[in-house]
Amino acid sequence: MADTRPAVELRGVDKEFVKRARRVEALRAIDFTVAPNEFAAVLGPSGCGKSTLLNMVAGFDRPTRGDVLVDGTRVTAPDPRRGVVFQEPALFPWSTVFDNVVFGLKTRGVAAGERPARGGVAGRGRRRCSSRSGCSDSNGTIPPSCPAG
Ligand SMILES: Nc1ncnc2c1ncn2[C@@H]1O[C@H](COP(=O)(O)OP(=O)(O)OP(=O)(O)O)[C@@H](O)[C@H]1O
Ligand SMILES: [Mg+2]
Repeated sequence: MADTRPAVELRGVDKEFVKRARRVEALRAIDFTVAPNEFAAVLGPSGCGKSTLLNMVAGFDRPTRGDVLVDGTRVTAPDPRRGVVFQEPALFPWSTVFDNVVFGLKTRGVAAGERPARGGVAGRGRRRCSSRSGCSDSNGTIPPSCPAG
C-alpha cells in the first residue's frame, strides 16, 4: 500500500528570535504539509520567514513551539537526505573547489581511498573559491564552468 504520510509537515510552528533583547516573531502558528513527490514553493515578501521555515525543515534550527516532521520523523538535526541550496553562496572561500566538493563525503566518513582522487581533477578543481564571486582562481577570474552559488 502507498505511503500516505506527508513528506514534510509543520504542525503549529512558531519561531521567535531574540535580537539585542528584542523578541522577533518570525513565524506564528504555521501548519503546512508537502505530499511525497509534490513540488512546493514558499512565496512572500522579504522578512516574512521563508528562510526561517526552510532552515527548520533542513534541521539547521528548531521551532520555538510546534513540530517539524520529514517522512513522519521529527527533525532535530541536519541530515544528508535533505539537500539545501542556499540563497547565498555557501562555499569555503579559503579552500579549493575540489576540497569544497569532497567536504560532504569527508563529513560522512567516506574513506580517502573511496573519495574521488585530487589527481583526477584538472586545473579548475585546484582553484580557490572566493566568497565574493562564488568561485574564482587566484587572479580573480571566474572559471566559465564553475557556477557561483
Ligand atoms: N538569526 C536571527 N536572529 C534574529 N532575527 C532573525 C534571525 N533570522 C531571521 N530573523 C528575522 O526573522 C524574520 C524572517 O526572516 P527570514 O530570513 O526567514 O525571511 P525571508 O522570508 O527568508 O526573507 P528574504 O526574502 O529577504 O530572504 C525577519 O524579521 C528577520 O529579521
Ligand atoms: Mg530568505
